[in-house]
Amino acid sequence: MLRFLVFGDLHLEDCTDGEERLECILRHAKEEQVDFMVSLGDLCFPTEKYAHIMDRIRSCGIPVHHTIGNHDVQEWDITHSLCFLGKERPYEAFEAGEYKLIILDTCYWKSEQGEYHFPNKNRVPSLYPVVPQEQLSWLEEQLSDGKKYIIFSHMSLVNPFARRGIANKEAVQQLFEGKDVLLCMNGHDHGSDLKMVNNVPYYTVSSASQFCWWGGNPPGSEVKNLFYKDPLHVIVEVDEREIRIRGMESAFVDLTPEDVGVDDYRWNGVDVHPCAQSCIIKRYE
Ligand SMILES: [Fe+2]
Ligand SMILES: [Fe+2]
Repeated sequence: MLRFLVFGDLHLEDCTDGEERLECILRHAKEEQVDFMVSLGDLCFPTEKYAHIMDRIRSCGIPVHHTIGNHDVQEWDITHSLCFLGKERPYEAFEAGEYKLIILDTCYWKSEQGEYHFPNKNRVPSLYPVVPQEQLSWLEEQLSDGKKYIIFSHMSLVNPFARRGIANKEAVQQLFEGKDVLLCMNGHDHGSDLKMVNNVPYYTVSSASQFCWWGGNPPGSEVKNLFYKDPLHVIVEVDEREIRIRGMESAFVDLTPEDVGVDDYRWNGVDVHPCAQSCIIKRYE
């Protein structure tokens, strides 16, 4: 059986208690004796101020695989962020017995001129992130060895909301056809979601810190961070029969979605209740 912890979007730069949140996650990983952890990106700005965070994560005794998030490359080139996170490549694959873990890098933006890695310093208008052809070819090759695959990405591979899920969802989903893709997990949306598309489960892990609301006129002129009391994250167990995702319940620290007019707790295609949903997905049904 494979057991791992997944968290994302801690955004240490936005939190006053970010280090406590991280400690709570590391403690839980130890208690659960997970095989490894995955950070789904947007961990912290890759600056000197947070270098000790990376040391702390490295010293926890459990392997941590990092995913590139847009805030990790908001102002910095990918080479800088890779070095900060201790990653060799922006997208990579690891084997764990019969399973293969594939970590994608979805932080590319698409404009009329082409597809580029973040940062988008000139603010060229681009509606969606995208996975470029070169990475798609790499992914296709990775999926050709008959293993059981678990895919991680910062942006969703299915969320249709603008600027949320990738533009070329169908191209990625097509590569999964006929392959044993057990689960895809993403962050970025700061809420929870689970969709089944062509028998592949796509699970969105909520943020380990907050739901970021924006509104006003023009849209985006008003921004509020609605903090979740606990660092939301999940424990995933995979065996030959099923995939168990164990989430957690929390509460809002102060402001709630009702306070900003999100009465139905739906935001950009995800559920922003203060919880990471639990579920059991049966394999081979
Ligand atoms: Fe984020
Ligand atoms: Fe993000």
